[in-house]
Amino acid sequence: MSEFILEIEGLSTHYHDGKQILKAVDGVSLTLERGEILGVVGESGCGKSTLALSILNLVPYPGFIESGSIRFEGRDLLKMSKSELRDLRGRDIAMIFQDAVAGLNPILPVGDQIAEMMTAHGDVNKYDARRSALTLLGNMGLADAERLAGRYPFQLSGGMAQRVMIAIAMALRPAILIADEPTSALDMTVQAQILEELRRLRNNGVSIMLITHDLGVIAQMADRVAVMYAGRIAEEGDTETLFHRPRHPYTWALLDSLPRINQEIRRLRQVQGRPPDMTKLPAQCAFVPRCTKATNACRQLDSPPLEEIEPGHFVACYNPVYQPDPSDDEEDDDS
Ligand SMILES: Nc1ncnc2c1ncn2[C@@H]1O[C@H](COP(=O)(O)OP(=O)(O)O)[C@@H](O)[C@H]1O
Ligand code: SF4
Ligand SMILES: [Mg+2]
Repeated sequence: MSEFILEIEGLSTHYHDGKQILKAVDGVSLTLERGEILGVVGESGCGKSTLALSILNLVPYPGFIESGSIRFEGRDLLKMSKSELRDLRGRDIAMIFQDAVAGLNPILPVGDQIAEMMTAHGDVNKYDARRSALTLLGNMGLADAERLAGRYPFQLSGGMAQRVMIAIAMALRPAILIADEPTSALDMTVQAQILEELRRLRNNGVSIMLITHDLGVIAQMADRVAVMYAGRIAEEGDTETLFHRPRHPYTWALLDSLPRINQEIRRLRQVQGRPPDMTKLPAQCAFVPRCTKATNACRQLDSPPLEEIEPGHFVACYNPVYQPDPSDDEEDDDS
């Protein structure tokens, strides 16, 4: 059995934008290991949601998958028929979206939605499905599941809707959960509950791709992190390495404002400058205009490939930052 449950290779997903092509995902290779939480982080517009949607072939018009493969248990999801994919969605790979209320069926009470998902995909009768739905809602820390099950999505708060969405996603015990900004619209208490739930799922063997622009969430949750910039992976490695020894100037800029010792929850700060126009990406490194380490080589050569610079640590940069581990030099901070 491969250690990877999902293997994305050379994925490019583009949008038609008038006469131009917008390269939202541009040659991304990424693996999800069994039972891990992989964090995918990057500024708004860098292609995170497009990456997530590509996995289940759900990219909306005018988007299209230009090339690549996405293997799940040895089968390429991009080569599956519509009906094969439909069977797999939800049952093997579940997805939760940022806007949970919009992701729910407005005219069906939430208990029925969970039960329906189970009877449609699984071999269960209505009675058992209903009972499981109540258990799942209970597991989400939602008090009085019975009453909640009878409510319609518009009667729920954002936090409740998000948890219902997770309950639906979990109803079929999928192998993979893709969570796209699952907590960014929620207050801290609810966010903490949902993150706790995701952690519990991971501990039960679910492999999770957790997409967020929030480095605090990544620090708390992820086993490994992929940093995206302008449709590509800029850096990838285990969370400890990424936070203590980032090598890509973009990762460094993202982390720069995080408190070094107490990595409390912090929003992604603005990196100097603006993300590039994705319809006009240069052949060279897209970070050049914002990069404090850019050299002539960066301006002349094609965009740097993602290379393994130490075991499990990948960086796409011609001039990576070499910064000592911050935990080694805390006393020198003021000098
Ligand atoms: N439906 C769409 N049509 C055209 N362009 C889109 C569409 N969805 C996203 N994009 C563009 O693709 C790029 C990546 O967007 P997205 O995947 O949503 O990034 P993120 O989730 O990181 O914010 C952005 O430039 C965005 O404007
Ligand atoms: S390749 Fe050059 S411009 Fe791009 S991030 Fe590295 S140093 Fe900066
Ligand atoms: Mg998004």
